[in-house]
Amino acid sequence: MSLTQKAINLLVTGGCGFIGSNFIRLLLDRHSPLVPVRSVVNLDKLTYAGNLENLADIADDSRYRFVRGDIADTELVRRVLEENRIDAVVHFAAESHVDRSILDSSPFIQTNIVGTQVLLDASRAVGVDRFVQVSTDEVYGSLGEEGFFTEQTPLAPNSPYSASKASADLLVRSYYHTFDFPGIITRCSNNYGPYQFPEKLIPLFISNARNDRPLPVYGDGKNVRDWIHVSDHCAGVAQALLQGRPGEVYNFGGRSEWRNIELTEFLLDLLGKPKSLIQYVKDRLGHDLRYAIDCSKAESELNWSPQVTFKQGLKETVDWYLEHESWCARILSGDYRNYYYQQYGETLNQE
Ligand code: NAD
Ligand code: TYD
Repeated sequence: MSLTQKAINLLVTGGCGFIGSNFIRLLLDRHSPLVPVRSVVNLDKLTYAGNLENLADIADDSRYRFVRGDIADTELVRRVLEENRIDAVVHFAAESHVDRSILDSSPFIQTNIVGTQVLLDASRAVGVDRFVQVSTDEVYGSLGEEGFFTEQTPLAPNSPYSASKASADLLVRSYYHTFDFPGIITRCSNNYGPYQFPEKLIPLFISNARNDRPLPVYGDGKNVRDWIHVSDHCAGVAQALLQGRPGEVYNFGGRSEWRNIELTEFLLDLLGKPKSLIQYVKDRLGHDLRYAIDCSKAESELNWSPQVTFKQGLKETVDWYLEHESWCARILSGDYRNYYYQQYGETLNQE
């Protein structure tokens, strides 16, 4: 059974973040939308990582509505689902940065676990047709030099971030088994592309290199990540929503493994900057060695495969950041926090 091809009312959580904003833009594309939608409601708390400017170009689309709020707010979530007659939920909202989770795990527990539980209960109460939990390969823990994560790999999260995502995934799983709730879990490798907050490796290093500041490589730089362009991840999430089977897990990856140091050197080449900017710094606590995804299940069951090659995608991403210097500068100065009030005033869309 798949979600019917009728246009649906979709709730996207965390749509002002990196992946959520790319997803909403692709949903509302007039020519080839990822999913046939009647309306898209974006519920986002606008934490430090949420930026309304990411969706400024579609803010006036009549099919789109922004609601500022917390996914852990039971009454608000219930009202948003009911008032907008939501058919399906795609759940991106999360605290997403491993380093921040090492400094303080409390917001990760509150948003990623409690927030997901609140969303699940409200979605079950109103009877949504689908709920896609957007998760990460980091729930599987760390690989050695060989092998790949499959959907059968046991969960073994190593950071407070990945532990909170694994907890949320297990709640989704339990709601399927206990209540026959139509939950689907997707687990993706490291994303890159436009609108990524410049605390993550690629946009941070582009931003530093452009300003001739050092690039802080953790440890010996030999950790491996499997990089996927955000548009490929978004396409996978859309396919999971439309064609995925409730209760199932689907892994997405880019089949593009890079050691951090090799990626850093490639970035410096693209930017025409010297390798002397590389600075090895103290390793991240509990730093996972290697992530790599076997995405053959998604390829065979969801008719999906990654389309963007890493070298081409990274070049385009570098160009995007160079062309959007003011977007980066506003974020780095904290000015984006003022954007909401400048653009919308204090009251608009406050529930
Ligand atoms: P992000 O940090 O860029 O964005 C998160 C968004 O969620 C922000 O807009 C923020 O304001 C919002 N948010 C946070 N707490 C909220 C709350 N309590 N209520 C409502 N909104 C809240 O994150 P991202 O990189 O776009 O990741 C999105 C999702 O994809 C996350 O669930 C993450 O675990 C998952 N994921 C990310 C990657 C990656 O490489 N970035 C890879 C795999 C999976
Ligand atoms: P990151 O973008 O934080 O994603 P994740 O930890 O979720 O994989 O980091 C990607 C890799 O880059 C990871 O191995 C840690 C490393 N890294 C650095 O070496 N220096 C940095 O400043 C950052 C942010 C990350």
